[in-house]
Amino acid sequence: MTRPRTVAIVVAAGKGERIGSALPKQFASLGGRPMLAHSVAALRAHPGIDDVLVVIGEGQQDLLADAVGEIPSTIGGATRRESVIAGLRAVEADRVLIHDAARPFVPAAVIDRLLDALSTAPAAVPVLPVADTLARGDAVLGETVDRTALHRVQTPQAFHHAAILAAHEAWPDDAEATDDAQVARAAGHDVTLVAGNAMLDKVTYPADLAAAEARLAARLVAR
Ligand code: CTP
Ligand code: MG
Repeated sequence: MTRPRTVAIVVAAGKGERIGSALPKQFASLGGRPMLAHSVAALRAHPGIDDVLVVIGEGQQDLLADAVGEIPSTIGGATRRESVIAGLRAVEADRVLIHDAARPFVPAAVIDRLLDALSTAPAAVPVLPVADTLARGDAVLGETVDRTALHRVQTPQAFHHAAILAAHEAWPDDAEATDDAQVARAAGHDVTLVAGNAMLDKVTYPADLAAAEARLAARLVAR
């Protein structure tokens, strides 16, 4: 049997409105190179990944080339989901890893676990336990929510390509989806959980960029 072809799709077509930097955050400097360069390098270096495709915004080809050099790319859409669909349609693959450019540090061990899980499941995602107490409420504290069965869900998320593309095509256009696992699940696929890593936390607000810089400076992650 030939080895399944595995392609990583990095979605990098967002505007980064919450971080409010001049450049979209995926092109902002992190440890002296664009944020996008970190995840692309980790994905390219992994022996289980055959190719990496980046989904960018209109007119960002030069930013992409400056960040990572020559690389397959396609143009994304107005929402993350539209960008993912554009990426899925642009690749030929048996298995895909869908990753947010806003999560710069991708540990190889997490990729190992995802690819292992995919050999017996149609979908796998990295998760971390919720450490804080969770509670409902508006101005005053409401009921505390049992967190034992709750997870923080990260990317990369791994799927059989045909299954996740069909799942996205079946998902209602007007419905929100913050990740791809919920789309896979809605299409009836079991999504396997593997251990995530705090290094994969998303850069969303200015303080997160500062924290990512600090991780690099402390050499907690590979440059
Ligand atoms: N993304 C994308 N296309 C979009 C929206 C988001 O490719 N139309 C990507 C972002 O580039 C990011 C990932 O999806 O890598 C996660 O999204 P998020 O953190 O929300 O990034 P932004 O949408 O850029 O930020 P914001 O929501 O603050 O504007
Ligand atoms: Mg967004």
